[in-house]
Amino acid sequence: MPRRSSKKRECVITGNWKMYKTIEEAKQFVENVTPKLSSSQVKVCLAVPFTAIHPTAELVKKLGAPLVIGGQNMYDATEGAFTGEIAARMLLDAGATFVILGHSERRHIFHESSSFINKKVKRALKDGLTPVLCIGELDEERHRGETNAVLESQLEASLEGVSPEDLSKMILAYEPVWAIGTGHTATPDDAEKAHLFIREFIVEKWGKKIGNAIVIQYGGSVKPSNAQELLSQENVDGLLVGGASLDPTSFSEIVNSKDL
Ligand code: 13P
Repeated sequence: MPRRSSKKRECVITGNWKMYKTIEEAKQFVENVTPKLSSSQVKVCLAVPFTAIHPTAELVKKLGAPLVIGGQNMYDATEGAFTGEIAARMLLDAGATFVILGHSERRHIFHESSSFINKKVKRALKDGLTPVLCIGELDEERHRGETNAVLESQLEASLEGVSPEDLSKMILAYEPVWAIGTGHTATPDDAEKAHLFIREFIVEKWGKKIGNAIVIQYGGSVKPSNAQELLSQENVDGLLVGGASLDPTSFSEIVNSKDL
């Protein structure tokens, strides 16, 4: 299969803080990480807890820090009687510009289906928030040789009815569930194979232009020691980092590894 050139695609590295950090801790992180970010080749994003969106977005503005703030989830209605939920326009209002959708922790702990995630993707796009759509197979699915089938069905259902124009505004993230928080990273070769499969699928369904341009991040036990090799793969355009994004030193090392 021909390799597709990543040369023109932006490198996007996102820290997903999950349910970590108070407002003070989040602000301290932004202060500490800003002088450590030396790579000008990377768009650096932080998906922070809802409570930290506004304070960190304000601080980023004040410092002129090269950071983009986003959320980790949302609901698909604009407003209404949905206790405990948050709307895309509320995230935007607080200073977020992107939102992670379909993370495996949402799919598996909170039982979110691809069709539910699809509604959120469409709402985020409609309201002007960049969706970062996560997909990935379970360990048992991998062992049964079903990785590509799982990726295909998650992509198909989560992106159902999304136009090429809208898809061009999105980011995809391949996060094999068995690699999340386990210390077992996918090998660069396995990550590359999955990314190429995802890109080929997008090319087939939405066309060459969109498929070749879309940014596909890898997530799952990314650390300073493996970031550079993962990023050097042709179809790995960025990283989605959990645990190692909580510390300014390890996160900045991951970002700066793009320049190595
Ligand atoms: P870890 O980097 O902690 O494995 O988490 C990955 C992840 O879920 C990012 O969204």
